[in-house]
Amino acid sequence: MILITGGAGFIGSNFVLDWLSDPKHGQEPVINLDLLTYAGNTENLSSIANDPRYQFIHGDIRNPELIEALLAKHRPRTVVHFAAESHVDRSIHGPGEFISTNIQGTFNLLQCSLAYWKRLPADQAKDFRFLHVSTDEVYGSLGAKDPAFTETTPYQPNSPYSASKAASDHLVRAWHHTYGLPVLTTNCSNNYGPFQFPEKLIPLVIANALAGKPLPIYGDGMNVRDWLFVGDHCSAIRAVLAQGVPGEVYNIGGWNEMPNLVIVKTICALLDERSPETAKRAGGKHESLIQSVKDRPGHDRRYAINAEKINQALGWKPSETFASGIAKTVDWYLANQDWVRRVQSGAYRDWIQKQYGNTAS
Ligand code: NAD
Ligand code: TYD
Repeated sequence: MILITGGAGFIGSNFVLDWLSDPKHGQEPVINLDLLTYAGNTENLSSIANDPRYQFIHGDIRNPELIEALLAKHRPRTVVHFAAESHVDRSIHGPGEFISTNIQGTFNLLQCSLAYWKRLPADQAKDFRFLHVSTDEVYGSLGAKDPAFTETTPYQPNSPYSASKAASDHLVRAWHHTYGLPVLTTNCSNNYGPFQFPEKLIPLVIANALAGKPLPIYGDGMNVRDWLFVGDHCSAIRAVLAQGVPGEVYNIGGWNEMPNLVIVKTICALLDERSPETAKRAGGKHESLIQSVKDRPGHDRRYAINAEKINQALGWKPSETFASGIAKTVDWYLANQDWVRRVQSGAYRDWIQKQYGNTAS
């Protein structure tokens, strides 16, 4: 049994679906604890809603009684912690929730996991793992010629989001160093793929292009990110869970640095081929919808991940190239335009309300 937090979000729901369909892990049940904030969407998991190996719990990682009770009842061998506020722009407008969920929430999970771990019989305690899912943004911003982030790059977070994630990483480290809790931390680059909320660059651009709306590019469009297909992030987490050394940090990346403008133009070209009628409405090419807008305050210029350690130590490498991953992603969004519409209209929340009411604890 594994306990996932934030499993109704973008990466968490991909992780749960992949876990249950992976023959190596597929028989091991999953409990998904999620508060269903605006970013949580149980529709992502509708294909397994009635699967006996899957259980959804509507609740808050900041609630100690709930976490203690969950751990005592289900006795997971592992906690995989995805739950977070995750959008940089939102963190600039309203940092409070980021401090509360990302820092206080992680603290609460660590405290409850520590108490639970200490009570486990020795053979189970030895195998217990707390895996903390974090981001490359904690390392700050690189210049054009700087070497990529390694696991020993000093932390220099620049946004309220990355500062809150950095704080949570430090707590996880300290709970290992001081109390011996068997933790693993992963710092991954920008993900893309199915079920990503259309507020992040790639799904926003796909949705806007199909709707004939402007494609907003912050600043000069030359900010660089490393992009990894979400399924590859999930396989890396599985590898770290299986073979990672407690107390260690693993950087995860796609060896795929690209400026935002190149990403947006690549998506437009794929859509020109696949959706000629919306290209026609955009005047022949989706690219003509690109619009330069005011830059994000404190916008990090470049992120790049050196993923040698996880490759050397655990044999992990991405299986998708950017070309294959982005084509799959564009195809998924084309085939799931109703999902996007329900997310944009807020209709997915009606379903959550009907299904779960105000049951969160
Ligand atoms: P997301 O915003 O899509 O999903 C977050 C999930 O957490 C949602 O389902 C939400 O309902 C849930 N949640 C939020 N607050 C909660 C709380 N207090 N209690 C319980 N559940 C709560 O995020 P994502 O993009 O899937 O990211 C998942 C994790 O991966 C985050 O920790 C993020 O920092 C990290 N990460 C993301 C990326 C990326 O590119 N998206 C890259 C590297 C690391
Ligand atoms: P985003 O998907 O928000 O991820 P992050 O800020 O965590 O890297 O943004 C990715 C890049 O795209 C980032 O440099 C900001 C830029 N961006 C735009 O240019 N326009 C947009 O509308 C958005 C959402 C992001």
